[in-house]
Amino acid sequence: MKHLIDPMDLSKQETDEIISLAQDIIAHRERYQGSMSHRKLATLFYEPSTRTRLSFTAAMMELGGNVLGFSDAKSSSVSKGETVQDTVRVVGCFADVIAMRHYIEGAQLYATEVSRVPIINAGDGSHSHPTQTLTDLLTIQRELGHIDGITIGFCGDLRFGRTVHSLIKALSRYKDIKVILIAPQELKLPDYIKRDVCERTGIPYREVETMEEVMPELDVLYMTRVQKERFLDEDEFDRVKDSFVLDAARMALAKEKMAVLHPLPRVNEILTEVDDDPRAAYFRQVENGKFVREALIVKLHEWKDDPEHGMPSHDYPVYDDTLRCTNSKCICNNERAPHKFRRGDDGVLRCWYCDSKVK
Ligand code: NCD
Repeated sequence: MKHLIDPMDLSKQETDEIISLAQDIIAHRERYQGSMSHRKLATLFYEPSTRTRLSFTAAMMELGGNVLGFSDAKSSSVSKGETVQDTVRVVGCFADVIAMRHYIEGAQLYATEVSRVPIINAGDGSHSHPTQTLTDLLTIQRELGHIDGITIGFCGDLRFGRTVHSLIKALSRYKDIKVILIAPQELKLPDYIKRDVCERTGIPYREVETMEEVMPELDVLYMTRVQKERFLDEDEFDRVKDSFVLDAARMALAKEKMAVLHPLPRVNEILTEVDDDPRAAYFRQVENGKFVREALIVKLHEWKDDPEHGMPSHDYPVYDDTLRCTNSKCICNNERAPHKFRRGDDGVLRCWYCDSKVK
């Protein structure tokens, strides 16, 4: 069975299949309208969401299926202390596929260990957000006509922004990608993405502290919001909250054919004066999200019993009683998930669930 927890759970070929199916759905919507009739999607959202949850809901409805679930864990048995694994066991009796968002990192991966239906990670803490990645890839493809060969600038909160982490991982499989990281000191990209993804796969990346110096080079500018809810220190948040703002003057420095993406919600990092610029792709990106989720639901259903489309199995867990994951937001420090690890090619041990380096 295939789950989607991390963008790398999909092979490059599977990713391409989903992107091209989404394009076919856009071109021939009527052909897919009944393809999920009598099937159910459960949306289990332990953290606020507008776009992602409604987009999953709309996607399943367009395919003729039904949707059940909760958007506020306080109204579910979670408030009685039910574990993620138990909730998924129960919901798997009612639904054919589960989309789950959780503020705890690794929660969905832990849930897959007991689930009898495919689980889709709709965001886990600051860790991963693979369906936003599929949305972003489809948007780049549709806006520019290609993904290979792009120079992409990531701007804003690269430290806590899970959409950035997932998209960089996925881009590492395309040709001639250049990454430019535009962020203040406090919001720099985590080490594990720089080392394990950029350096290991050979994506050239460069870190800068102003937008102006790189604007003319970019094919894609990926803007992000400062993730207030993930800061532990309020003063630190106040210092960086208005870090980088995209306005018409900065847009004037960019190529004529460039695409501005943003996973949304925006706070103040893109002024509304940019919205009417033809390069502002972020609202088209939202709609692409629905089509790509339709394609994903169809494909996970198709692959469910196909042994050729299982989860990648190149990693084996390392158990060591003397080691502990030190990330307080990881599932193994919040539920009874075992402390287990994976050893990267660089020999470094990282938590199996949240990828934090073991100190
Ligand atoms: C993003 C998320 O939830 O990570 N939003 C989304 O899914 N569209 C980005 C964010 O919250 O800033």
